[in-house]
Amino acid sequence: MEKNKLKTVIFDLDGVVTDSAKYHYLAWKELADELKIPFDEEYNEKLKGVSRMESLELILENGQACDKYTPEEKEELAFRKNENYKELIKQITPEDILPGILPFLKELKEADIRIALASVSKNAPFIVHQLEIEDYFDYIADAASVPNAKPFPDIFLAARDEFGFDSSECVGVEDAKTGIEAIHRAGMKAVGVGTPDQMTEADLLITTDQLSLSGVLEAFQMR
Ligand code: BG6
Ligand code: MG
Repeated sequence: MEKNKLKTVIFDLDGVVTDSAKYHYLAWKELADELKIPFDEEYNEKLKGVSRMESLELILENGQACDKYTPEEKEELAFRKNENYKELIKQITPEDILPGILPFLKELKEADIRIALASVSKNAPFIVHQLEIEDYFDYIADAASVPNAKPFPDIFLAARDEFGFDSSECVGVEDAKTGIEAIHRAGMKAVGVGTPDQMTEADLLITTDQLSLSGVLEAFQMR
């Protein structure tokens, strides 16, 4: 069988490169408590990879409150969550890069494999800056210019098309079920680094500290 060459690895950010997913949770939790809507970490799993406004709708849905607010009020609620989130992520430093991510990025750079970021978060560039890893990324997809968040493949396809590669030459790394689905809909192989029960569809399920170029090439029969 002809082996594909691995040309790019496309990373999700929140929950893959750093644990910013916990700050999204805390910021939504504060809003949900204020609105007296039940919200816990289990329900929060549904929000991972989902856009800001869609996340708000899911939270309101959980409190049967979707029709309680006008579109303008919903914009204001989402704005407030984001202001709170932006305060929380100011504390992120390079020490918050998850184990194994930096060595993996270095390995990819040395092997001349393109590195891309496919996060639907509009705060992604700020977090990458806080982590001081901008120089590793050949491309950071712009969350504001893709029409659909995950599980649609748009953001992964934007990264692929930036380099002009074929999907079979790309691998995506995700921590959320919606993200794994987005990678698959983009026609790529998916590495899952999230909670195992959310990662049943991943083609390779590991933890970030197990990420390695040889492991990815071996698992996907690439070279
Ligand atoms: C994703 C997160 O990366 O970005 C979601 O997994 C979040 O939880 C989404 O809602 C949008 O982020 P932001 O920062 O633009 O509100
Ligand atoms: Mg994520």
